[in-house]
Amino acid sequence: MKKVLSGIQPSGLLTIGNYIGAIRQFVEMQDTHDCYFMIVDLHAITVPQEPEKLREQTESVAAMYLASGIDPEKAVVFLQSQVRAHAVLGWIMTTLTGMGELERMTQFKDKSAGKESVGAGLFVYPSLQAADIVLYNADLVPVGEDQKQHLELTRDLAQRFNHRYGDTFVVPEPHITDVGKRIMSLIDASKKMSKSDPNPGAFISMFDEPDVIRKKFSRATTDSGREIKYDPDNKPEVSNLLEIFSIFSKVPISDLEARYEGQGYGALKKDIAEAVISVLEPIQARYRDIRQSGELQAILKRGAEKANAVADATLKRAMERMGFLL
Ligand code: AMP
Ligand code: TRP
Repeated sequence: MKKVLSGIQPSGLLTIGNYIGAIRQFVEMQDTHDCYFMIVDLHAITVPQEPEKLREQTESVAAMYLASGIDPEKAVVFLQSQVRAHAVLGWIMTTLTGMGELERMTQFKDKSAGKESVGAGLFVYPSLQAADIVLYNADLVPVGEDQKQHLELTRDLAQRFNHRYGDTFVVPEPHITDVGKRIMSLIDASKKMSKSDPNPGAFISMFDEPDVIRKKFSRATTDSGREIKYDPDNKPEVSNLLEIFSIFSKVPISDLEARYEGQGYGALKKDIAEAVISVLEPIQARYRDIRQSGELQAILKRGAEKANAVADATLKRAMERMGFLL
């Protein structure tokens, strides 16, 4: 079975962008792959976090994984900070990474732009991400398109280590789906849908109530035409809506185009909202049950035990090859 690893930062409310680009794929892959899904709390602290908020958001992302259908009997679900090997191998990978490589990372450029002070952790973030992935010998990493560059660096670092110290790490591939690899803002289709957008109308949160979802879709920006056609270059807003609709309704985009021919955007927006609500409502109900059940801590502890066993073995092998005394 191929191995899969991915993670999400506990740094804000999850959006349907996270669901489409990441979580939905995690759920699909857990039946056919050996899966590790973590909450990357060590990455979250590369920007300042309030302790109480970090705790809450970490639990929230973990509960949302389970509510969305990740089954801890099938996949290993754990917190990055509960597997200390991440920090150690993260440091080792940092020493193999060039400053120039990190300077080229667009996520760093975006997150540091205009900031007066930027922590060094934000700069070396991709080296820790590389460690996350190689620790589990992951073949595939399901992510949205924005992570492609980090995955390329991970591949380079894994190969560099293997070249220098002998074959140790699996060189992973990103797993990025064609439809839904980059869900755009509902207000400005030139920007990625992001949980940190100051305008909440730009994103649908996984926690939005039905009426909020209806309102946000009805106010979504569209061009002045009325043709419902998938054409990301010329009709980015409508194309983004069609991608969201297709994923939540499981109807291919070409069928949706045919179904809405000649109908204008109003009908389309109404129906998208209902498709999204019908998926999110049961997830939200399960989320509330999981948070109330008090079982989360135990599930995460069990996940960390399994993750530690795999990660420690990889770390030991890597350190031995590098000349550390064990
Ligand atoms: P983050 O919220 O940055 O920790 O992202 C977690 C995962 O969700 C990563 O795999 C991202 O690529 C994915 N993701 C975040 N926003 C989007 C989006 N707008 N479209 C598609 N995937 C996304
Ligand atoms: N950098 C990823 C993001 O911003 C989160 C992440 C950290 C990750 N470690 C990972 C994703 C390992 C996949 C695999 O979304």
